[in-house]
Order: sequence, then structure tokens, then C-alpha cells
Amino acid sequence: MSRELSLCQAILALFFTLFYNSQGYFIPKGSVGIGFNGYFTLTNTTKHAYGQAFEREPFSIKNSSTGLTTSFSINFFFSIVPEHKQQGSHGMAFVISPTRDLPGASSDQYLGIFNETNNGKASNNVIAIELDIHKDEEFGDIDDNHVGININGLRSVNSSSAGYYDDKNGKFHNLSLISGKVMRLSIVYSQPDQQLNVTLFPSEMSVPPQKPLLSLNRDLSPYLLEKMYLGFTASTGSVGAIHYMIGWFISGEVDYPTLELGRLPTLPPYPKKASNRTRTVLAVCLTVSVIVACVASWIGFVFYMRHKKVKEVLEEWEIQYGPHRFAYKELFNATKGFKEKQLLGKGGFGQVYKGTLPGSDAEIAVKRTSHGSRQGMSEFLAEISTIGRLRHPNLVRLLGYCRHKENLYLVYDYMPNGSLDKYLNRNENQERLTWEQRFKIIKDVASALLYLHQEWVQVIIHRDIKPANVLLDHEMNARLGDFGLAKMYDQGFDPETSKVAGTFGYIAPEFLRAGRATTSTDVYAFGMVMLEVVCGRRLIERRAPENEEVLVDWILELWENEKLLDATEESIRQEHNRGQIELVLKLGVLCSHQAASVRPAMSAVMRILSGVSQLPDNLLDVIRAEKFKGWPETSMEVLLDVNSLSTLAFTDSFVSHGR
Ligand SMILES: *[C@@H]1O[C@H](CO)[C@@H](O)[C@H](O)[C@H]1NC(C)=O
Ligand SMILES: *[C@@H]1O[C@H](CO)[C@@H](O)[C@H](O)[C@H]1NC(C)=O
Ligand SMILES: *[C@@H]1O[C@H](CO)[C@@H](O)[C@H](O)[C@H]1NC(C)=O
Ligand SMILES: *[C@@H]1O[C@H](CO)[C@@H](O)[C@H](O)[C@H]1NC(C)=O
Ligand SMILES: *[C@@H]1O[C@H](CO)[C@@H](O)[C@H](O)[C@H]1NC(C)=O
Ligand SMILES: *[C@@H]1O[C@H](CO)[C@@H](O)[C@H](O)[C@H]1NC(C)=O
Repeated sequence: MSRELSLCQAILALFFTLFYNSQGYFIPKGSVGIGFNGYFTLTNTTKHAYGQAFEREPFSIKNSSTGLTTSFSINFFFSIVPEHKQQGSHGMAFVISPTRDLPGASSDQYLGIFNETNNGKASNNVIAIELDIHKDEEFGDIDDNHVGININGLRSVNSSSAGYYDDKNGKFHNLSLISGKVMRLSIVYSQPDQQLNVTLFPSEMSVPPQKPLLSLNRDLSPYLLEKMYLGFTASTGSVGAIHYMIGWFISGEVDYPTLELGRLPTLPPYPKKASNRTRTVLAVCLTVSVIVACVASWIGFVFYMRHKKVKEVLEEWEIQYGPHRFAYKELFNATKGFKEKQLLGKGGFGQVYKGTLPGSDAEIAVKRTSHGSRQGMSEFLAEISTIGRLRHPNLVRLLGYCRHKENLYLVYDYMPNGSLDKYLNRNENQERLTWEQRFKIIKDVASALLYLHQEWVQVIIHRDIKPANVLLDHEMNARLGDFGLAKMYDQGFDPETSKVAGTFGYIAPEFLRAGRATTSTDVYAFGMVMLEVVCGRRLIERRAPENEEVLVDWILELWENEKLLDATEESIRQEHNRGQIELVLKLGVLCSHQAASVRPAMSAVMRILSGVSQLPDNLLDVIRAEKFKGWPETSMEVLLDVNSLSTLAFTDSFVSHGR
């Protein structure tokens, strides 16, 4: 056996191993990374991991007829690049194993060879040469930088600190396994000598030192099977290390080959910085994407909530009641582009256009109002969903709505005979209503109010009862319209400015004081409307004689003088309806009483109108008494103040129709 090997042979040998390496000569397992730059890694940066790489084909290590181990020599180049310069991970090992991998192996101190249970068991048939960079007391490790010979377990049968003996002077030179330098390990076993020598030395030395670092004088035959697999393992613990396998040379005899790596591979440093940078980049990316995701989902959420609000309203309506959201285009086409010709009327809330829904002959009235505050809008939409559910023959049906730009469009049934207020002009040309028509209108409005106040699941206060909001259908049935609008109007204003929604003359005094709408304030306005309808005139007529100017005062005066019927037009006064006319006038005065406590509820009004109940005989006394007893002076002043203030934002009929 020759200790000399030609350079040619060595290079060939190295080529041989690398060639086989790239051809899948080794079977990788665990964290092994194979096949770049002529070396492979047994571990990567993963902590508490192990890697195994065993030769595909077994090595016939024992002579089957003699039962003896053959001599062998293994040389390999390796390098350990640790995560921290001063601290190792766990290390690596050359392993002779009965199987091509070591199943159930553990990482950390078990080096990817054994585990807690099989460590030290004779049945393992494993011989390993460890390059241990961690001192494990449980295995009697001498230090954290040693080479050891292990048989069937991690407790080394012989071990020594890493280093080599100088051939010249026999001096021991320490070597640090975790220096990141490429080193060579030579393992030679002579069966005749029953001796195993292990030598560690720097890769620059092409010939191994003569004095081994370790030796074991023992016959290895009892521990080995006929065919064994040769391979390498490595493991990491809580600290990382990259274990590089750079090249190896295996021979079936005692051999001390001269091996030169020629050009030393440049091993990359532990990918700490790269990993940190990656981590930083990842962190930044993650942070950015999290922020983006947050912002996006927030925006999405806002849109969703906004959408949801509208959608819920829609669903409630559409599923149960029909009114729905119209497309602006639909309404635009229906009203011929909101042409002046289609205009039915104007009021404080906006304009009303007549239209015909495309594809049907259904005539609609489209009310266009602008809305200022978004908050008021959303509340109003909720209001609309309530209104949309109301169904009563004396309520104008709300068919749906539409929002477009700054405007809100409300779509109602079209009422061909217009609003009640146009019948209340004592105009020569104006068609006069018969008493029957008037009485029916009053009963219709009363019926609608009763429904809103007492028959619907919620109490709905109209807030703006006046002749302009009483609409007449083709059969002259009265329908109350525009409920809830006053509330929106209310919300459109800053409460600080104390502006009150409603129409002047129809606003109950306590509403002016407290600003709170109640069913009683609706009754007040209804009383006024009753008087107007019966008398066929406006609440306040500037052109009338002074004592007749304010309708309710004039009627009260006539009542006291027992000339109540003088308040009405002659055309409607007939023998058979006198009682009915008087009843409605008296009821109107009662309803429009200044003191809320005197006003009847709508159910009582309805009973009186239908003749089920009767007004008390001493009604005039009650009205008078209340007027002077329970009506505080202050409210009178408030009312007077309001009368004199033209700046108040009361709108609609009084402003446009009052003289
Ligand atoms: C490192 O090895 C583990 C197996 O131990 C593997 O899951 C992981 O993907 C490897 N990481 C890299 C970067 O190759
Ligand atoms: C086994 O040993 C016998 C006797 O020494 C020898 O003749 C034989 O060739 C050996 N077999 C192998 C495969 O080496
Ligand atoms: C240890 O390894 C053996 C195989 O060598 C396996 O059967 C056993 O389950 C493993 N034990 C543990 C605890 O992993
Ligand atoms: C070698 O290392 C050992 C322990 O690690 C130490 O005691 C010794 O002094 C070192 N020798 C030299 C020459 O550095
Ligand atoms: C082991 O090393 C010793 C001391 O250098 C040497 O005498 C012996 O021949 C070596 N054994 C083998 C098998 O190389
Ligand atoms: C361990 O190796 C050293 C160095 O070769 C040697 O002197 C010593 O006898 C060996 N110990 C055992 C138990 O083989």
C-alpha cells in the first residue's frame, strides 16, 4: 500500500466524487442541499434540523466467508461555517450505517445519527467519526471542538480536541472546527492491525500528518455488517451552522492519499446578513402589505357599510313592500329630463315633476330635493324605509327613491287632482267643492292621521299637515303626502339656529316653545286644515275684514255669537248638513286649541266625525276656560314674536300663497 498518490490520481478521485455527486450518487435527507459549486451542504440555516447524505450503493466492508472487516481508508474535505464565530452548533460525522439512512434520527446533540432511545444500543451497528462542536456532558464530551470515534452511540470511545501533530517536531496544532476553513479528515482502518487512525489537518496539507489525532485499537468486525452504507450527517441546534461537504475519497485498503483541492472553493459566509437583509426586506414588505391591506380593507369596509346601509333599506322595501331604488336615468326619462313643462309644483323642499314610467302607463310624481348633510341623508333613508312600508288608502304611496349627485328623488303615485290648497282660494274661476266632498276629504285625512298616530306599529308624526300636503286622486279621495319630509328638513338645519320645520300657521304653540313634534302638534295642524276646508278659505286672509283675518279667531267669535254657519260659503249651507258643518267647525276649533291638553287624540276625532261620539254640550265654555286659564302668557309672546319675524325659515304655502 502506497502512502503516495500521484496528483493526477487525486484530481481524478475528486472529479470522480463530484461527478457522482451531481449524478445523485448520494441520497439526501433532511436539510441537505446538493449540487452547487462542487460541494453540498448537510445543513442549512434551519435550526434544530439535521441532514443525512448516504451513498446510493452499499460498501462491502466485511468478507462474508471470513466474517472480517476489510481495511479501508476514507478521506474527505469539509468546512463548518457557524452562525456565531465563537459558538458552534452541533457538528457533523462520517457514518458507517447498516441502512441508507438513519430513520428516527434526531437533531441537536444526536447529530442526525441517533435518537434518545436508540443511542448506545448495540443493535445499531453504527460506527461514526464525529466532528463535534458542542460539549454535551451527557455523552462525556471533552470540549466543544473535538473529534471522536463513536460506536453505536454518542459517547465516544476515543476523542481528542481538534488539531494535528506536526510531522517535523510532533507539536500539536489546535484547529478550530468552526473556523470556516476547509479541513481534511483521514480515517484509516487496518484489519490486520485492528487499528483505526483518525487524522485531522488543514486542507493545504496534501499529505496527512504521520501521527494520527486519534486511534482505536480494536477489531471493528463485531460492529459491522457485511454491507454497509457510507455517508455523512450533521445537525443544528439552537445555534445555526452550515456544514459543507466538499469532496471525498474512499478506498478499500489502508491508504494515505495525497489529495489537493487545487483551487480552494470560496465558501459563502453564514447567510446571516443575507438572511437578516431578507428578513428586513420581508419585514418591510410585510409591514407595507399589512398597511396596504389594512387601508384597503378599511376603505372596503367603509364602502361596504355605506353600501350596506343603502342595501338594507332596499332589501327591506323590495322584499316586503315594493318601493325601490330607481335609476336616475329612469326618472330622467320619465320626466322628459325634468322639463319645466312637467313641473307640478314648487315648495320649500324642492320641485315636483310629473312623469310616466317608461314601459308602463303608470304616472308618477317625482319630488326632487337637495340634501346638504350626509348624516341627515342616511337617517332620512332609514325614514324612507319606514314610509315605504306604510300602506293606507289615504296616504300617498311612496314608490321609491333615487339618489343622484346632490339630489334625492322621491317617487310617488301621481295624484291627478292636485293638492287641496288650490280649492281653498276664494277665486271666482275656481271649482268649488261640495260639502260631501269636503267632509270626505276631512274624514280621509283624519283616517290617514289615525293610521300614522295610532294604528301603525310605530307612532309616526307627520309634522307638516297643511292643505298643500293633502292630495286628491281621480275620485277626489284625499291622500296625505310628504310625511317624514319635515323631519328631513329639520335635520338639514343646524339645531343651534333653532329653526323649526313646518309651515307657519299650522305650527302648534308648544312646538314653537319646545321644538318637539308630537301627535298633538299634528292634531293642531289638522284642526286648522278642517276649518280651512269647511270654510273654503285660507287660515289667514289679509284681504278679509279685520275680525275675519285669522280664521280660527273669527270662527270662535261667530260661535260665541251663535252664528257659526256664517263662516262657511253659502253654496254649501243646506238644511240637511247644518249639524255636520257645525260639528266639523267646532271640532276644528277644539283640535286647533292653543293648549295641547284640550286637543283630542285622532281616535276621538275619528269617532266624533263618524258620529259614534259626540262633542260635549259645554264645549265653548271648555275652550274659553282653557284659553284663559291654561295658556301661559309667555307662549302668547312667543307666538307674537314669531308672527313679527319674517326671517324665520317657514316656507311653502304661507309664503307662496299667503297674501
Ligand atoms: C433547510 O432544510 C429544511 C429541512 O431540514 C427544509 O425544510 C428547508 O426548506 C431548507 N431551507 C432551505 C433554505 O433550503
Ligand atoms: C474473503 O476472504 C477469503 C479468504 O481470505 C478470500 O479468498 C476472498 O477473496 C475474500 N472475499 C472477498 C469478497 O474479498
Ligand atoms: C429512534 O430511532 C428508531 C430507529 O432507529 C425508531 O424506531 C424510533 O422510533 C426512534 N425513536 C424516537 C423517539 O424517535
Ligand atoms: C489548544 O486548545 C486547548 C483547548 O481548547 C488549549 O487548552 C490549548 O492551550 C490550545 N493550544 C494552543 C497551542 O493554542
Ligand atoms: C496509525 O498510526 C500509527 C502511529 O502513527 C501508525 O504506526 C500505524 O501504522 C497507523 N495505523 C494505520 C492503520 O494506519
Ligand atoms: C485515543 O487516541 C490517542 C491518540 O492516538 C491514543 O494515545 C490513545 O491510546 C487512544 N485511546 C484509546 C482508548 O484508544
